[in-house]
Amino acid sequence: MTEAEVVLQGANPYTLTPTWSIRMEDWVADIEFERQGLLHRLLKTTVTNPLANHLPVGLLKALLRFGKSELAAANWVDPGGWRSMVISYDGRPRQIADKLLVSGGTMSMALRNRKRLASRLLARLIDSAVSDPPHVLCLGAGPGHIIMDAMNQAQRDAIATLVDLNPETFEYGRRQAERLGLSESVRYVQGDAREVEKYLDRPPDMVKMLGICEYLEDSEIVDIVASAAEVMPPGGPIVFNSLSKAHGTDRFFRRIFGLHMIHRSPVELQTLMQQVGFADFNSIPEPLGVYHVIVGRLKDENQPPDSKGP
Ligand SMILES: C[S@@+](CC[C@H](N)C(=O)[O-])C[C@H]1O[C@@H](n2cnc3c(N)ncnc32)[C@H](O)[C@@H]1O
Repeated sequence: MTEAEVVLQGANPYTLTPTWSIRMEDWVADIEFERQGLLHRLLKTTVTNPLANHLPVGLLKALLRFGKSELAAANWVDPGGWRSMVISYDGRPRQIADKLLVSGGTMSMALRNRKRLASRLLARLIDSAVSDPPHVLCLGAGPGHIIMDAMNQAQRDAIATLVDLNPETFEYGRRQAERLGLSESVRYVQGDAREVEKYLDRPPDMVKMLGICEYLEDSEIVDIVASAAEVMPPGGPIVFNSLSKAHGTDRFFRRIFGLHMIHRSPVELQTLMQQVGFADFNSIPEPLGVYHVIVGRLKDENQPPDSKGP
């Protein structure tokens, strides 16, 4: 069995069909990802990244202001916040300064790859859920681009509860939902993801926690995931992402955007998730190597650890 092959055993009331074998790589095999050719990578490592990382802060900020960079402006208001994510997801910048950062920037390309990868995985998890309609709990959800993409791709209807500390994201999200015909299916809740039981009227079948771990300390991640585990069914999936330094511009993000992301490998994150009862991890990288999207399962405490089911 490969690392990405998971065998899900034992029925549970919400999510899994019994003794069912899937390869998540097959779910994502036909996605068209953004890639960088050899020349593009060479130019980045030898010219653009060193300049971005080492030119004086004042000069770089002045250039971004002069070029009317919307990505920089969004990060200066709220480093790494939902607005900057939306600009990268959209991928069609209006300002010249953003063409370099958003269209060709490794981080923005990787963000769009992560969105494609995660939304496909979520769509297939929705399709394979037992509950009808499946319920997805999205933590640190922002406006909900990824879950709405997933709901659009899924072959059956689902509902989603989107929890975020910042209610500013909701108006934008509701407009998106209306445009996609999903207004009745998504519910926005302002609140702390460490207290999810307060916001739910029915248990979730799966939990999505994307684009948030890189802004949190270990203890905050553990608290959030423990709160999710309290309300999830045994075997229920959690979808999250790791972040590596393969984007090559951490120094730029820190100095120019004030963005202090915490880079963790899939194994480091999985170790945190294991502390609160998750296991059976499948970790799938996007092609630029910046993000892995990882699916774990809440262990069923009633099953012996080495049980392979009937
Ligand atoms: C970078 S945005 C990511 C948005 C979205 N998940 C995405 O990937 O496009 C991170 C979001 O997490 C939210 N957040 C951070 N800590 C949180 C917490 N403890 N509870 C709920 N939301 C939180 C922030 O308000 C922010 O909107």
